[in-house]
Amino acid sequence: MKTQLENIYESAKADIEKAQSISDIDEIRLKYLSRKGEFNSIKKGLKDLSDEDKRTIGALANQITQDLECLLKEKHETFYQKELNEKLQNDRIDITLSGKYIPEGKVHPITSTTNEIVSIFQNLGFSVISPELSPEVETEYYNFDMLNVPHDHPARDVQDTFYLKGIPNGVLRSQTSGAQIHVMENQKPPIKVIAPGRVYRNENINSRKNNFFHQIEGLYVDKGITFGDLKGVLNEFIRLYFGSARPTRFRSSFFPFTEPSAEVDVQCIMCQGKGCRTCSGTGWLEVLGAGMVDVNVLNGVGIDPEIYSGFAFGMGVERLSMLKYAIDDIRLFFNNDKRFLEQF
Ligand code: DAH
Repeated sequence: MKTQLENIYESAKADIEKAQSISDIDEIRLKYLSRKGEFNSIKKGLKDLSDEDKRTIGALANQITQDLECLLKEKHETFYQKELNEKLQNDRIDITLSGKYIPEGKVHPITSTTNEIVSIFQNLGFSVISPELSPEVETEYYNFDMLNVPHDHPARDVQDTFYLKGIPNGVLRSQTSGAQIHVMENQKPPIKVIAPGRVYRNENINSRKNNFFHQIEGLYVDKGITFGDLKGVLNEFIRLYFGSARPTRFRSSFFPFTEPSAEVDVQCIMCQGKGCRTCSGTGWLEVLGAGMVDVNVLNGVGIDPEIYSGFAFGMGVERLSMLKYAIDDIRLFFNNDKRFLEQF
C-alpha cells in the first residue's frame, strides 16, 4: 500500500509538472484529491490494516495529500499570475487613440443676453410676465391704439409695420410695449414686470437694422413712482450689465405712451466714442427708450392716474449684446454662422 501511495504521488507530481494551465491544475486536483479521486480509494482500504500500519500509512497518505495540495496551489498561483499578466498586457488601454467627437451645443447670444438682462431685473424685484400677455401676433389696438399712438403716426405706416392678411387689424408687433396694456388689463397695481420677446419691423436690412429683433419691456406702476425711480433703476441696470466704466447718457425724447420720455445711449465700443460705421459716426448707440407712463394710457386701462403713477422702458437686446461683445453687425445674430455662434 505504501508503494501504491508513493506511485500515485510520483505520477501526480509528474502530472503537475506537465500542467499548462489553471484548467489542467483543476483536472489534476479532481483526478487525485477529490472524493472519487485516487487517494480516497486507497484511504478507504486503511480500515483493513493493522493499527500499527494504519498509523504509519495513514500519516504517509496525509503527508502526501498535503504535499500535493501545496504543489497544486503553487502551480495554480504561477498560472494565475501568468494569465493575469497576459490579460493586462492584451487589454491595455491605448491612450494614443483619438477620442470620439461629441458636438457641444451652445446657447445663442440673443438667449444668453436676454437671460442675463432678465436676471438683473429679477434681482431688482421685477417678475417676468406670462407669455400669453405678450403675443407676437397683435392687433393695432394693443400695438398702437391703447399706447396713445395717433392714427396718422408714421410708425403705423405699412413701410414700418407688417400687417397681417386675414386677421382684422392684425399686425406682427413692432414693439413689446403692447404687453404693458395686456398686463394692466389683467392686474391691479402694484405692477412690477418685464416682458422679453421678438418684434418685427418692415426695415431695409443693414448692419444696424434687421426686420425682426428682440426687446425687453419693463413696467412699474404703483403709488408715488417718480422719474427719479426710473433713472435709479436704469442706471443700476447699466452698471450691473456693463460694469461701472462704460460712459452712458440720458437724453430727453418723445414717445406717445410716456410723458416725459427719455432715451439712454451707451458709448460705442467699436470706436470708443470716436465715431464709426456701427454708430453712424456719432460715437453713441441708443439702447433703450423709457418714460413715465402717459396719463392717457393709465386712463385707457382703468388705472386712476390721480392715485397711481408708473414708468416704462423698452430695450434692444441685440444692441445691448453688440455693445458688450463688440459685435459690429446685427446680421451676425441671424445668419447662423457657426464660427460666430461658437464664440459664445
Ligand atoms: N417701444 C419703444 C420702441 O420700440 C421703446 C420704448 C420707449 C418702450 C419708451 C417703453 C417706453 O416702454 O416707455 O422704440
